[in-house]
Amino acid sequence: MSDNNITNQPKKRALSCIQPSGTPTLGNYLGALKNWVAMQEEFDCVYAIADLHAITVRQEPAKLRRQIHEAFALLLAIGLDPEKSVLFIQAQVPEHAQLSWLLSCHTQFGELSRMTQFKDKSARHADNVNAGLFTYPVLMASDILLYQPDYVPVGADQKQHLEIARDIAVRFNGIYGDVFKVPEPYIPKTGARVMSLQDPTKKMSKSDENINGFISMLDDRDTIIRKFKRAVTDSEACVRVAPEKPGVSNLIGIYSAVTGKTEAEIEREFEGKGYGDFKLAVGETVADTLDPIRASFERYIADKAYLEELYHKGADSAERLARKTYFKAMKKVGYVL
Ligand code: TYM
Repeated sequence: MSDNNITNQPKKRALSCIQPSGTPTLGNYLGALKNWVAMQEEFDCVYAIADLHAITVRQEPAKLRRQIHEAFALLLAIGLDPEKSVLFIQAQVPEHAQLSWLLSCHTQFGELSRMTQFKDKSARHADNVNAGLFTYPVLMASDILLYQPDYVPVGADQKQHLEIARDIAVRFNGIYGDVFKVPEPYIPKTGARVMSLQDPTKKMSKSDENINGFISMLDDRDTIIRKFKRAVTDSEACVRVAPEKPGVSNLIGIYSAVTGKTEAEIEREFEGKGYGDFKLAVGETVADTLDPIRASFERYIADKAYLEELYHKGADSAERLARKTYFKAMKKVGYVL
């Protein structure tokens, strides 16, 4: 039983979202999704598929629709329980886009210009630097603030977006009185920044064009092991963490996040062994973790009617929570409702 229950305090709330812009990777799992599951017992959890965010980059409609379903099925497959947590699809709860407008009018052009993800993505998609790409952090702030969460479990790459959400909340509260709770990031000690297996100076990403750079959560066992065997390392042949060894350090980080072993324990385990043994061990351990998730995913994705029932129910519960905050914010600004 959690401390919260012992003291009869209401549970603290956790909220987070994931984009359906491709099959989630091992980075998404270790940086965020694993924590989503771990938090489910102790926290009141609200988790969403952030599909509105996905169209900041051009999407094919049929593919987007499929990816939204798949992402939802994957949330169930990793062990999220719709009886315990609110699981929903962002676009089915209109308050996200609505609050986003109020928040945009309280966000400065200058602060959005400083977002590193905007700078990266606008450089990569120079032919489509749309306004949504620029205001994306405001929509993300709206996703968060609507649910009054205490914690937001994310990987390290979302820290800056979380900081701007906090800044917007503090500013809004400063003008209109207490409307939003100011949440804390909840970032894991290991796995917060899983890097590409092919270029360990870049984060592992589901939109990487080189499929050997990332482990998709639905890759089969052989593919996972093959990708780890091909992972970029160095010529020293010594399993240790060091800034000049980003490839090996990344593999140690992954192995640590999956097994719970410390870096020192891992260095000892592979003392005197070559990279071949090490990479195989990492690959097999990751495959052991993802195999049951993939099997469970196959069962959920085959049952569209069940998925539909769950996401509609989830959207109803989410909207009940979101409306309260949205109405409060609107009234405070002076709207007549
Ligand atoms: P997204 O979809 O890119 O990633 C989902 C989650 O996975 C984490 N993550 C990683 N963690 C460790 N290593 C990696 N290589 C790695 N890649 C991704 C991300 O930090 C994230 O926690 N903007 C968000 C989605 C979002 C959101 C929100 C998150 C929309 N609204 C509200 C929190 C709260 C995004 O694009 O995540």
